[in-house]
Amino acid sequence: MKVIEQDQKAKIKLRINGQDYETEVEPRRLLVHVLRELGFTGVHVGCDTSHCGACTIIMDGKSVKSCTLLGVEADGAEILTIEGLAEGEKLHPIQEAFWEKHGLQCGYCTPGMIMQSYWLLKNNPNPTEEEIKEGISGNLCRCTGYQNIIDAIKLAAERMKGQ
Ligand code: FES
Ligand code: FES
Repeated sequence: MKVIEQDQKAKIKLRINGQDYETEVEPRRLLVHVLRELGFTGVHVGCDTSHCGACTIIMDGKSVKSCTLLGVEADGAEILTIEGLAEGEKLHPIQEAFWEKHGLQCGYCTPGMIMQSYWLLKNNPNPTEEEIKEGISGNLCRCTGYQNIIDAIKLAAERMKGQ
């Protein structure tokens, strides 16, 4: 077993949005900070108790709150962040739908909200309103009152059906 002392740094490899990264981190460093330091500053921190979901990313196919994982735990993982969703200039249908339905105001929850919506629609391409509410219940927003976010996810679901 490999032991890393608390004052040592560990080398970790991450594949983020299709590109390989290698970095050195202290064992206690949270994944959310590692990602932000690598330049993925769309990943936000909104709390220190794992409630808000502003830090949500997709890691090895699952939506996770990156503030509640250590960087070293993510060694070897495949990660998708909001920065990896658009294809060049072309927005992902969920991004487009948030724009059209006014599903954001300050935009602070939006990257996490969109990544959670992405995971939700992957697992349930045709969700009911109740399933959408449940599906984003780990993501807090203090601006929108949620309704426009729900409408955006419905619109995205419709548009993604054909794809
Ligand atoms: S920063 Fe709030 S849940 Fe991660
Ligand atoms: S848009 Fe401001 S917190 Fe959601």
